[in-house]
Amino acid sequence: MWRYVKREAGLWRIPLLVVVLSGSAVACEPAGGPGDIDGGSDRAEAELAHGRYLVDNVLLCFNCHSQRDWSLYSGPIVPGGERRGGEVDLFLDPTAAPDISPRALRTWSEDDLVAALVQGRDRDGRPFHQRWMLGNFADLATADAIAVARYLLADASSEIPARSSGGATGAARGAYLVSLGRCELCHGEDLGGGSAVAVPGGESLPAANISLDVETGVGRLSREEFIDYFKSLSGPEFQRVEVPPDTPNTAMPWPQFSQMTRDDLGSIYDHLATRAPVRRPVPAP
Ligand code: HEC
Ligand code: HEC
Repeated sequence: MWRYVKREAGLWRIPLLVVVLSGSAVACEPAGGPGDIDGGSDRAEAELAHGRYLVDNVLLCFNCHSQRDWSLYSGPIVPGGERRGGEVDLFLDPTAAPDISPRALRTWSEDDLVAALVQGRDRDGRPFHQRWMLGNFADLATADAIAVARYLLADASSEIPARSSGGATGAARGAYLVSLGRCELCHGEDLGGGSAVAVPGGESLPAANISLDVETGVGRLSREEFIDYFKSLSGPEFQRVEVPPDTPNTAMPWPQFSQMTRDDLGSIYDHLATRAPVRRPVPAP
Protein backbone atom coordinates (compact mmCIF):
# COMPACT_ATOMS: atom_id res chain seq x y z
CA MET A 1 0.00 0.00 0.00
CA TRP A 2 1.36 3.40 -0.86
CA ARG A 3 0.93 6.56 1.07
CA TYR A 4 -0.15 8.44 -2.03
CA VAL A 5 -3.30 6.37 -2.25
CA LYS A 6 -4.50 7.80 1.02
CA ARG A 7 -3.19 11.23 0.17
CA GLU A 8 -4.87 11.28 -3.25
CA ALA A 9 -8.11 10.06 -1.74
CA GLY A 10 -7.95 13.01 0.67
CA LEU A 11 -7.94 10.85 3.76
CA TRP A 12 -4.72 12.12 5.31
CA ARG A 13 -6.39 15.11 6.87
CA ILE A 14 -9.55 13.55 8.19
CA PRO A 15 -8.88 10.69 10.58
CA LEU A 16 -12.48 10.90 11.78
CA LEU A 17 -13.68 9.90 8.35
CA VAL A 18 -11.77 6.66 8.63
CA VAL A 19 -13.69 5.85 11.78
CA VAL A 20 -16.99 6.66 10.12
CA LEU A 21 -16.07 4.59 7.10
CA SER A 22 -14.97 1.56 9.00
CA GLY A 23 -18.17 1.86 11.00
CA SER A 24 -20.19 1.69 7.81
CA ALA A 25 -18.11 -1.23 6.54
CA VAL A 26 -19.05 -3.16 9.66
CA ALA A 27 -22.69 -2.29 9.10
CA CYS A 28 -22.50 -3.88 5.63
CA GLU A 29 -21.44 -7.20 7.04
CA PRO A 30 -23.93 -9.99 7.51
CA ALA A 31 -26.57 -9.15 10.02
CA GLY A 32 -26.89 -12.51 11.62
CA GLY A 33 -27.25 -16.23 11.31
CA PRO A 34 -29.80 -18.53 9.76
CA GLY A 35 -32.50 -16.99 11.96
CA ASP A 36 -32.64 -14.10 9.47
CA ILE A 37 -33.62 -16.33 6.64
CA ASP A 38 -37.11 -17.71 6.87
CA GLY A 39 -38.97 -17.69 3.56
CA GLY A 40 -37.74 -19.41 0.39
CA SER A 41 -37.30 -16.15 -1.53
CA ASP A 42 -35.23 -14.68 1.30
CA ARG A 43 -33.05 -17.74 1.12
CA ALA A 44 -32.67 -17.31 -2.65
CA GLU A 45 -31.72 -13.65 -2.15
CA ALA A 46 -29.21 -14.54 0.54
CA GLU A 47 -27.69 -17.11 -1.80
CA LEU A 48 -27.34 -14.55 -4.61
CA ALA A 49 -25.76 -12.07 -2.19
CA HIS A 50 -23.35 -14.79 -1.08
CA GLY A 51 -22.57 -15.61 -4.74
CA ARG A 52 -21.83 -11.95 -5.37
CA TYR A 53 -19.54 -11.74 -2.34
CA LEU A 54 -17.56 -14.76 -3.52
CA VAL A 55 -17.31 -13.53 -7.12
CA ASP A 56 -16.53 -9.87 -6.36
CA ASN A 57 -14.43 -10.12 -3.21
CA VAL A 58 -12.83 -13.56 -3.08
CA LEU A 59 -12.70 -15.29 -6.48
CA LEU A 60 -12.30 -12.04 -8.47
CA CYS A 61 -13.78 -13.55 -11.63
CA PHE A 62 -14.31 -10.11 -13.15
CA ASN A 63 -10.72 -8.96 -12.66
CA CYS A 64 -9.89 -11.18 -15.62
CA HIS A 65 -13.20 -11.10 -17.46
CA SER A 66 -13.43 -7.27 -17.72
CA GLN A 67 -11.57 -4.31 -19.16
CA ARG A 68 -9.57 -2.59 -16.43
CA ASP A 69 -8.17 0.91 -16.09
CA TRP A 70 -4.48 0.65 -15.17
CA SER A 71 -4.06 4.43 -14.95
CA LEU A 72 -5.87 4.00 -11.61
CA TYR A 73 -4.64 2.33 -8.43
CA SER A 74 -4.89 -1.47 -8.65
CA GLY A 75 -6.56 -1.34 -12.08
CA PRO A 76 -10.27 -1.12 -11.23
CA ILE A 77 -12.83 -2.39 -13.71
CA VAL A 78 -13.90 0.16 -16.32
CA PRO A 79 -17.48 1.25 -15.49
CA GLY A 80 -19.93 -0.65 -17.67
CA GLY A 81 -17.26 -3.14 -18.75
CA GLU A 82 -17.82 -5.56 -15.90
CA ARG A 83 -17.73 -9.20 -17.08
CA ARG A 84 -17.83 -8.17 -20.76
CA GLY A 85 -14.46 -9.83 -21.42
CA GLY A 86 -10.89 -8.71 -20.82
CA GLU A 87 -7.33 -9.86 -20.89
CA VAL A 88 -5.32 -11.86 -18.39
CA ASP A 89 -1.91 -10.24 -18.34
CA LEU A 90 -0.23 -10.98 -15.04
CA PHE A 91 2.72 -13.02 -16.19
CA LEU A 92 4.22 -13.70 -19.60
CA ASP A 93 1.50 -14.71 -21.86
CA PRO A 94 -1.56 -12.45 -22.29
CA THR A 95 -4.70 -14.51 -22.74
CA ALA A 96 -8.21 -13.37 -23.67
CA ALA A 97 -10.86 -13.97 -21.03
CA PRO A 98 -14.28 -14.16 -22.73
CA ASP A 99 -17.49 -12.24 -22.07
CA ILE A 100 -19.28 -13.96 -19.18
CA SER A 101 -22.29 -11.65 -18.87
CA PRO A 102 -25.65 -13.43 -18.40
CA ARG A 103 -26.34 -12.74 -22.08
CA ALA A 104 -23.10 -14.39 -23.20
CA LEU A 105 -23.80 -17.32 -20.87
CA ARG A 106 -27.44 -17.73 -21.90
CA THR A 107 -26.83 -21.21 -23.35
CA TRP A 108 -25.07 -22.32 -20.16
CA SER A 109 -27.09 -24.06 -17.47
CA GLU A 110 -26.32 -23.73 -13.79
CA ASP A 111 -24.96 -27.29 -13.83
CA ASP A 112 -22.70 -26.49 -16.81
CA LEU A 113 -21.17 -23.61 -14.90
CA VAL A 114 -20.70 -25.53 -11.67
CA ALA A 115 -19.03 -28.37 -13.59
CA ALA A 116 -16.80 -25.95 -15.54
CA LEU A 117 -15.70 -24.22 -12.36
CA VAL A 118 -14.93 -27.28 -10.34
CA GLN A 119 -13.46 -29.40 -13.16
CA GLY A 120 -11.69 -26.64 -15.11
CA ARG A 121 -13.17 -27.86 -18.39
CA ASP A 122 -15.35 -26.30 -21.04
CA ARG A 123 -18.73 -27.87 -21.85
CA ASP A 124 -17.15 -30.06 -24.53
CA GLY A 125 -14.64 -31.39 -22.01
CA ARG A 126 -11.73 -29.29 -23.30
CA PRO A 127 -9.49 -28.20 -20.40
CA PHE A 128 -9.39 -24.42 -20.02
CA HIS A 129 -6.22 -22.55 -20.93
CA GLN A 130 -3.40 -23.79 -18.66
CA ARG A 131 -3.69 -22.61 -15.09
CA TRP A 132 -6.01 -19.79 -16.19
CA MET A 133 -8.05 -20.07 -13.79
CA LEU A 134 -11.03 -22.24 -13.72
CA GLY A 135 -9.00 -25.30 -12.82
CA ASN A 136 -7.89 -23.51 -9.70
CA PHE A 137 -11.43 -23.42 -8.41
CA ALA A 138 -11.44 -27.16 -7.86
CA ASP A 139 -11.62 -26.54 -4.11
CA LEU A 140 -14.89 -24.63 -4.40
CA ALA A 141 -17.46 -26.22 -2.07
CA THR A 142 -20.57 -27.35 -3.95
CA ALA A 143 -22.90 -24.90 -2.17
CA ASP A 144 -20.51 -22.04 -2.97
CA ALA A 145 -20.19 -23.12 -6.62
CA ILE A 146 -23.98 -23.14 -6.94
CA ALA A 147 -24.22 -19.66 -5.38
CA VAL A 148 -21.56 -18.40 -7.83
CA ALA A 149 -23.37 -19.93 -10.82
CA ARG A 150 -26.74 -18.48 -9.76
CA TYR A 151 -25.22 -15.04 -9.32
CA LEU A 152 -23.50 -15.18 -12.71
CA LEU A 153 -26.71 -16.17 -14.47
CA ALA A 154 -28.97 -13.75 -12.57
CA ASP A 155 -30.56 -10.82 -14.38
CA ALA A 156 -29.87 -7.35 -12.99
CA SER A 157 -27.26 -8.90 -10.75
CA SER A 158 -25.65 -5.50 -10.19
CA GLU A 159 -28.50 -4.72 -7.79
CA ILE A 160 -27.69 -7.65 -5.55
CA PRO A 161 -25.81 -6.67 -2.38
CA ALA A 162 -22.64 -8.62 -1.57
CA ARG A 163 -22.80 -10.60 1.66
CA SER A 164 -20.77 -13.41 3.13
CA SER A 165 -22.96 -16.14 4.46
CA GLY A 166 -20.69 -15.97 7.49
CA GLY A 167 -20.54 -18.91 9.83
CA ALA A 168 -17.17 -20.65 9.69
CA THR A 169 -14.08 -18.85 10.95
CA GLY A 170 -10.56 -19.98 11.77
CA ALA A 171 -7.56 -21.50 10.02
CA ALA A 172 -9.51 -24.02 7.91
CA ARG A 173 -11.77 -21.28 6.55
CA GLY A 174 -8.62 -19.20 5.95
CA ALA A 175 -6.97 -22.00 3.95
CA TYR A 176 -10.10 -22.19 1.80
CA LEU A 177 -10.05 -18.41 1.19
CA VAL A 178 -6.32 -18.39 0.38
CA SER A 179 -6.97 -21.10 -2.18
CA LEU A 180 -9.99 -19.36 -3.73
CA GLY A 181 -8.26 -15.95 -3.68
CA ARG A 182 -5.20 -17.52 -5.35
CA CYS A 183 -2.77 -15.75 -3.04
CA GLU A 184 -0.10 -18.32 -3.97
CA LEU A 185 -0.36 -17.51 -7.66
CA CYS A 186 1.33 -14.16 -6.98
CA HIS A 187 2.90 -14.58 -3.52
CA GLY A 188 4.40 -18.00 -4.30
CA GLU A 189 3.69 -21.45 -2.93
CA ASP A 190 5.45 -20.65 0.32
CA LEU A 191 3.77 -17.20 0.43
CA GLY A 192 7.25 -15.72 0.84
CA GLY A 193 6.83 -13.50 -2.22
CA GLY A 194 9.66 -12.19 -4.35
CA SER A 195 8.57 -13.24 -7.81
CA ALA A 196 7.65 -10.54 -10.30
CA VAL A 197 4.01 -9.79 -11.05
CA ALA A 198 3.22 -7.73 -14.14
CA VAL A 199 1.19 -4.55 -13.90
CA PRO A 200 -0.37 -4.14 -17.33
CA GLY A 201 0.97 -1.04 -19.04
CA GLY A 202 3.53 -0.53 -16.28
CA GLU A 203 6.54 -2.16 -14.74
CA SER A 204 6.33 -5.47 -12.99
CA LEU A 205 6.79 -5.48 -9.25
CA PRO A 206 7.69 -8.15 -6.72
CA ALA A 207 4.86 -9.70 -4.72
CA ALA A 208 5.31 -9.06 -1.01
CA ASN A 209 6.32 -11.68 1.53
CA ILE A 210 3.01 -12.45 3.26
CA SER A 211 4.25 -15.27 5.45
CA LEU A 212 4.21 -14.38 9.13
CA ASP A 213 7.97 -13.89 9.37
CA VAL A 214 8.35 -10.94 11.76
CA GLU A 215 11.19 -9.19 9.99
CA THR A 216 10.61 -9.84 6.31
CA GLY A 217 6.92 -10.80 6.16
CA VAL A 218 3.66 -9.63 7.69
CA GLY A 219 4.42 -11.13 11.10
CA ARG A 220 5.04 -7.51 12.10
CA LEU A 221 1.25 -7.13 12.15
CA SER A 222 -1.10 -8.52 14.80
CA ARG A 223 -4.29 -10.21 13.63
CA GLU A 224 -6.27 -7.00 14.22
CA GLU A 225 -3.66 -4.89 12.42
CA PHE A 226 -3.71 -7.28 9.47
CA ILE A 227 -7.49 -6.90 9.20
CA ASP A 228 -7.23 -3.11 9.58
CA TYR A 229 -4.53 -2.97 6.89
CA PHE A 230 -7.04 -4.33 4.38
CA LYS A 231 -9.99 -2.42 5.80
CA SER A 232 -8.10 0.90 5.60
CA LEU A 233 -8.34 0.56 1.79
CA SER A 234 -11.98 -0.49 1.57
CA GLY A 235 -13.77 2.87 1.26
CA PRO A 236 -15.37 3.99 -2.00
CA GLU A 237 -12.80 6.82 -2.24
CA PHE A 238 -10.06 4.19 -2.81
CA GLN A 239 -11.77 2.52 -5.72
CA ARG A 240 -10.68 5.02 -8.37
CA VAL A 241 -7.46 6.79 -7.36
CA GLU A 242 -5.17 8.22 -10.07
CA VAL A 243 -1.61 6.92 -9.97
CA PRO A 244 0.74 9.92 -10.14
CA PRO A 245 3.40 9.80 -12.90
CA ASP A 246 6.57 7.84 -12.03
CA THR A 247 4.83 6.14 -9.14
CA PRO A 248 4.41 2.37 -9.18
CA ASN A 249 0.94 0.91 -9.40
CA THR A 250 0.08 -2.46 -7.86
CA ALA A 251 -1.35 -5.75 -9.07
CA MET A 252 -2.56 -6.61 -5.56
CA PRO A 253 -6.36 -6.60 -5.71
CA TRP A 254 -6.78 -4.28 -2.71
CA PRO A 255 -10.15 -2.79 -3.75
CA GLN A 256 -11.74 -6.24 -3.87
CA PHE A 257 -10.03 -8.09 -1.02
CA SER A 258 -10.37 -5.12 1.33
CA GLN A 259 -14.12 -5.69 1.21
CA MET A 260 -13.91 -9.20 2.57
CA THR A 261 -15.54 -9.41 5.99
CA ARG A 262 -13.39 -8.92 9.07
CA ASP A 263 -14.09 -12.55 10.00
CA ASP A 264 -12.76 -13.76 6.66
CA LEU A 265 -9.64 -11.57 6.78
CA GLY A 266 -9.00 -12.75 10.33
CA SER A 267 -9.39 -16.35 9.19
CA ILE A 268 -6.76 -15.75 6.50
CA TYR A 269 -4.40 -14.54 9.22
CA ASP A 270 -5.21 -17.63 11.30
CA HIS A 271 -4.25 -19.77 8.32
CA LEU A 272 -1.00 -17.84 7.76
CA ALA A 273 -0.17 -18.62 11.39
CA THR A 274 -0.26 -22.35 10.58
CA ARG A 275 2.30 -21.96 7.77
CA ALA A 276 6.08 -21.84 8.13
CA PRO A 277 7.38 -18.26 8.28
CA VAL A 278 9.68 -17.56 5.32
CA ARG A 279 12.64 -15.29 5.88
CA ARG A 280 13.00 -13.54 2.54
CA PRO A 281 13.45 -9.79 2.21
CA VAL A 282 11.34 -8.40 -0.62
CA PRO A 283 11.95 -4.76 -1.50
CA ALA A 284 8.84 -2.62 -1.06
CA PRO A 285 7.71 -1.09 -4.36
C1 HEC B 1 -6.93 -15.24 -13.89
C2 HEC B 1 -7.96 -14.93 -14.82
C3 HEC B 1 -9.33 -15.56 -14.68
C4 HEC B 1 -10.10 -15.63 -13.55
C5 HEC B 1 -9.79 -15.13 -12.16
C6 HEC B 1 -11.33 -16.29 -13.96
N1 HEC B 1 -11.28 -16.59 -15.27
FE1 HEC B 1 -12.78 -17.43 -16.34
N2 HEC B 1 -11.54 -17.59 -17.94
C7 HEC B 1 -10.30 -17.04 -18.03
C8 HEC B 1 -9.74 -17.36 -19.33
C9 HEC B 1 -8.37 -16.97 -19.82
C10 HEC B 1 -10.72 -18.12 -20.02
C11 HEC B 1 -10.61 -18.71 -21.41
C12 HEC B 1 -10.07 -20.10 -21.24
C13 HEC B 1 -10.04 -20.89 -22.50
O1 HEC B 1 -10.79 -20.55 -23.43
O2 HEC B 1 -9.30 -21.88 -22.51
C14 HEC B 1 -11.85 -18.24 -19.10
C15 HEC B 1 -13.04 -18.90 -19.41
C16 HEC B 1 -14.18 -18.87 -18.62
C17 HEC B 1 -15.47 -19.41 -19.01
C18 HEC B 1 -15.83 -20.06 -20.35
C19 HEC B 1 -16.54 -19.02 -21.17
C20 HEC B 1 -16.79 -19.44 -22.57
O3 HEC B 1 -17.53 -18.70 -23.27
O4 HEC B 1 -16.27 -20.47 -23.01
C21 HEC B 1 -16.33 -19.20 -17.97
C22 HEC B 1 -17.80 -19.56 -17.90
C23 HEC B 1 -15.55 -18.55 -16.92
N3 HEC B 1 -14.25 -18.36 -17.36
C24 HEC B 1 -16.07 -18.20 -15.72
C25 HEC B 1 -15.28 -17.73 -14.66
C26 HEC B 1 -15.76 -17.60 -13.31
C27 HEC B 1 -17.15 -17.91 -12.83
C28 HEC B 1 -14.72 -17.15 -12.57
C29 HEC B 1 -14.66 -16.89 -11.07
C30 HEC B 1 -15.00 -18.04 -10.26
C31 HEC B 1 -13.59 -16.99 -13.47
N4 HEC B 1 -13.97 -17.35 -14.73
C32 HEC B 1 -12.37 -16.52 -13.09
C33 HEC B 1 -9.65 -16.32 -17.06
C34 HEC B 1 -10.08 -16.18 -15.76
C1 HEC C 1 -2.45 -10.64 -8.78
C2 HEC C 1 -1.38 -10.86 -7.85
C3 HEC C 1 -1.74 -10.93 -6.39
C4 HEC C 1 -2.68 -11.73 -5.78
C5 HEC C 1 -3.65 -12.73 -6.42
C6 HEC C 1 -2.56 -11.48 -4.36
N1 HEC C 1 -1.60 -10.55 -4.13
FE1 HEC C 1 -1.13 -9.72 -2.34
N2 HEC C 1 0.23 -8.47 -3.23
C7 HEC C 1 0.58 -8.52 -4.56
C8 HEC C 1 1.64 -7.56 -4.80
C9 HEC C 1 2.29 -7.30 -6.15
C10 HEC C 1 1.95 -6.95 -3.56
C11 HEC C 1 3.02 -5.88 -3.27
C12 HEC C 1 2.52 -4.51 -3.63
C13 HEC C 1 1.44 -4.00 -2.70
O1 HEC C 1 1.62 -4.02 -1.47
O2 HEC C 1 0.40 -3.56 -3.20
C14 HEC C 1 1.01 -7.55 -2.59
C15 HEC C 1 0.94 -7.19 -1.27
C16 HEC C 1 0.19 -7.85 -0.31
C17 HEC C 1 0.18 -7.52 1.11
C18 HEC C 1 0.99 -6.40 1.79
C19 HEC C 1 2.22 -6.98 2.42
C20 HEC C 1 3.07 -5.95 3.12
O3 HEC C 1 4.08 -6.35 3.71
O4 HEC C 1 2.74 -4.76 3.10
C21 HEC C 1 -0.66 -8.41 1.72
C22 HEC C 1 -0.99 -8.48 3.21
C23 HEC C 1 -1.19 -9.28 0.70
N3 HEC C 1 -0.65 -8.91 -0.52
C24 HEC C 1 -2.04 -10.34 0.94
C25 HEC C 1 -2.62 -11.12 -0.07
C26 HEC C 1 -3.59 -12.17 0.18
C27 HEC C 1 -4.05 -12.61 1.57
C28 HEC C 1 -3.95 -12.67 -1.03
C29 HEC C 1 -4.97 -13.75 -1.34
C30 HEC C 1 -6.28 -13.61 -0.70
C31 HEC C 1 -3.21 -11.93 -2.03
N4 HEC C 1 -2.40 -11.01 -1.42
C32 HEC C 1 -3.32 -12.14 -3.40
C33 HEC C 1 -0.01 -9.29 -5.53
C34 HEC C 1 -1.05 -10.19 -5.33
